[in-house]
Amino acid sequence: MAGFFPVLKIDDFILRELTEDDIGAISKIWGSPQVTEKTTGPLSHDESVQMLYVLRSLWENDAGIRWGVELDGLLIGTCGFHNLNRGARRGELGYELDYECWGKGYMRKALEPVLDYGFNIMRFERIEVFLTVDNDRSAALLLKLGFTLEGTLRAYALSPKGLIDQNCFSILKREWKEQSLPRPDRRL
Ligand SMILES: CC(C)(COP(=O)(O)OP(=O)(O)OC[C@H]1O[C@@H](n2cnc3c(N)ncnc32)[C@H](O)[C@@H]1OP(=O)(O)O)[C@@H](O)C(=O)NCCC(=O)NCCS
Repeated sequence: MAGFFPVLKIDDFILRELTEDDIGAISKIWGSPQVTEKTTGPLSHDESVQMLYVLRSLWENDAGIRWGVELDGLLIGTCGFHNLNRGARRGELGYELDYECWGKGYMRKALEPVLDYGFNIMRFERIEVFLTVDNDRSAALLLKLGFTLEGTLRAYALSPKGLIDQNCFSILKREWKEQSLPRPDRRL
């Protein structure tokens, strides 16, 4: 076990451990055709439950961390790190938001303390994200956060449609620190 799960707060958002009480909200999010269009495709209730346990096990097995994003007492999404390479001090970021909450800047805000945590507590030098090449909404979010599009990895990931190309985005610790300094309202 990795110890006490770290709770992060920013504005009205609370980022906390996922629990079995979240199964209803999680299966709504991962069952949504819109949310999963560029990733797995909609998950069944049982698949969502399995995914919840997989994401919880990241922290339990010291293999990463996935927070539940809560706003006004409701779980509206998740985000966190997996596929860690501790030697190279890098991790992969993943996230998704309830479709009803898109277009409000919520994930951009929620990811601020998450990136702080990745660079300052998990001591990453590099955080990366792999997206299907047509995931424009997610790409826009990453570019707003200061990520760089590094290029396209051909036939890189297995999807329900077979092998697909993915775009690789990354941000380095020095880049995050540089752009973080002028924002007076940021806090962990
Ligand atoms: C990726 C995802 C989280 C982005 O959600 P989003 O709401 O579009 O992203 P943001 O939180 O950055 O919000 C940006 C939008 O909010 C709007 N917005 C409103 N108020 C805002 C504010 N105060 N600050 C920033 N943006 C604001 C922006 O104009 C923008 O809308 P637009 O794209 O229509 O112009 C969402 O599309 C999703 O869950 N996708 C499926 C999962 C996925 O693809 N994950 C990636 C693989 S790991």
